[in-house]
Amino acid sequence: MRPISHMVRSAFANANVLEDAGCSQNPRVLKRLLGPALRGLLFQRGKNGDETEMDARHDACFTWTYTHDAPAMRALLNTARRGQWDPLVDLDWSLSVDPLDPERPFVDERASPLQEVPGFSALDPRTKRLHQRDLLAWSLSQFLHGEQGALYVACQLTEAVSWTDAKLFGSTQVVDEGRHVEVFDRYLAEKLEKRYPINDNLYVMLDALMTDRRWDLKFLGMQVIIEGLALGAFGTLRTYTHEPLLRELLRRVITDEARHVHFGVLALQRTYADLPEPDRHEREDWAYEMCVLLRNRFLAHEFYDEHWAHRMGRRSWNRAMLESQYMSRFRDTMFRRIVPNLKRIGLLSARIRPRYERLGLLTWEHERAAPDLTIEEMVEG
Ligand SMILES: [Fe+2]
Ligand SMILES: [Fe+2]
Repeated sequence: MRPISHMVRSAFANANVLEDAGCSQNPRVLKRLLGPALRGLLFQRGKNGDETEMDARHDACFTWTYTHDAPAMRALLNTARRGQWDPLVDLDWSLSVDPLDPERPFVDERASPLQEVPGFSALDPRTKRLHQRDLLAWSLSQFLHGEQGALYVACQLTEAVSWTDAKLFGSTQVVDEGRHVEVFDRYLAEKLEKRYPINDNLYVMLDALMTDRRWDLKFLGMQVIIEGLALGAFGTLRTYTHEPLLRELLRRVITDEARHVHFGVLALQRTYADLPEPDRHEREDWAYEMCVLLRNRFLAHEFYDEHWAHRMGRRSWNRAMLESQYMSRFRDTMFRRIVPNLKRIGLLSARIRPRYERLGLLTWEHERAAPDLTIEEMVEG
């Protein structure tokens, strides 16, 4: 258990997030998110020791008919089987990577919100490169933790869903996510030699997905929202990095993730087609809450605590991050991938649209997103 003083500090630091977490005003949604928010933001359970146990609940569903009645999922399963790759064979780990090398900048300067942080330009060149390296390690660490969550949620989905074709596709996703954990972990350990703990907001999302027993919310949260975000984040990072191993690693991971988003859309289109209205409203509000959390709260506080807390206050840091051009581009890419799919699965009704409009997110409703994009289009961002 963390000391009380630490919990109070953490509660204040996350006060805005708690505010965001209640933005939909839907009591059913608030009730569901309260536990994960307390565990993630107040008790910081993702940072409390080397392991965290979660009370993962769902009903496993056996099917005895083995009916194949989802041809689109069957086709996706075939694509997944053909698309398997081996991190030991298909990635060249012998490539030397030095993120501090002044001759070979690791990421494009435009790719970093640090350029817009007051005081960054006054740092000496080596410290700047060190900060860039650490911010990249922070991002990849969050990818790694997210992939671990995706691995367990994919296991749960494979058990919980009732269609045979979905279970079979789910088994390929489990293998994919395990591979993603492996490659991000190895890249961080061998090439960046640094790993950050999980961000509290990401913890809240993973906790909410793992502990909710309704399989469709797991699909919605993981396959459509988090994987949509991941597609945007991986694509943005790939656009700006010059490092060939990381570029190839991201290209392969994006290819897998595109299938997972496609799978989520297929499953939810089918499920939400005749959802009773109160249940649809709850899903709409829940998805909206998740989008707000994603939009506002990935502000690299673990990196800030290490390098910037003694130079500037957290509010100034948050403002610099939120208002940076990089973050605004990143948000654009992320919602271009998520909003069209929310529409496709029927969660962008006239009732919820004004709220998305206020956040400026309806701009993306007619964008093409997975599964309409080709893999090449997806990889190029
Ligand atoms: Fe993944
Ligand atoms: Fe995935």
